[in-house]
Amino acid sequence: MLKVQNVSVWRDTAQILFDIDLHVDKGEIVCLLGPNGAGKSTMMNAIIGRLSQKTGTILLEEKPITHLRADQLVRHGMALSPEGRQVFAPLSVYENLTLGAYARPRSERHAVKKDLEWVFELFPKLKEREQQQAGTLSGGEQQMLAIGRALMSHPRVLLLDEPSLGLAPKIVSEIFDTLQQLGQQGITILLAEQNARMAFKVAQRAYILSEGKIITTGRTEDLVQDPSVQQAYLGV
Ligand SMILES: Nc1ncnc2c1ncn2[C@@H]1O[C@H](COP(=O)(O)OP(=O)(O)OP(=O)(O)O)[C@@H](O)[C@H]1O
Ligand SMILES: [Mg+2]
Repeated sequence: MLKVQNVSVWRDTAQILFDIDLHVDKGEIVCLLGPNGAGKSTMMNAIIGRLSQKTGTILLEEKPITHLRADQLVRHGMALSPEGRQVFAPLSVYENLTLGAYARPRSERHAVKKDLEWVFELFPKLKEREQQQAGTLSGGEQQMLAIGRALMSHPRVLLLDEPSLGLAPKIVSEIFDTLQQLGQQGITILLAEQNARMAFKVAQRAYILSEGKIITTGRTEDLVQDPSVQQAYLGV
């Protein structure tokens, strides 16, 4: 579904990512795991077309999307729930969700309405707070809103940048239950995380990123048995 081939990314003069190869098959949840500064967000932003200083190839269903912009990629079925949520604070929950569907033509308005119901089913708390200003939501609710807003474009590939960031374990586990549900509904997900414990519960495979390079990859059921992964990421 999504293929990143030999991608390197620069910010100004500094190279941040080095020859990254990764892929996500249709319906898979794949985790991009790494510590602070490893380059996870850089990878996500490069895939979604926010960073143009890059080489290599990114393919969506075998078609090159390397040089498409974020707004074009939404129309190709890709959406990003960014790190740090970035909801529109003065706008209501409903308005934030509606903005997630901005790229869809008027002819899809019935489908958009259905997707709004779908998001409210996935996150009932958002339904309860439909008219509340997004800036006054709790951190967990804002994270749900950021994911919900990304889902309103009805993506085939969802990129999620650190949904667990700064949230209490109970909320994290609620959010990850929903990710699992999305996976079961056939949405393809690339999940950037530092929280290996949670990410490995929902992801089938993982890539471990360190200082801009992929150092390990494999099935999560195998990685949890790997002593170096246990030591570095699972606190064993
Ligand atoms: N706008 C920028 N300009 C220059 N360098 C940047 C910029 N944004 C990030 N970097 C650098 O790129 C490297 C990777 O950062 P990135 O945010 O991708 O890491 P990350 O894995 O997402 O970390 P975190 O877990 O803290 O979110 C870091 O060394 C960072 O300083
Ligand atoms: Mg990041």
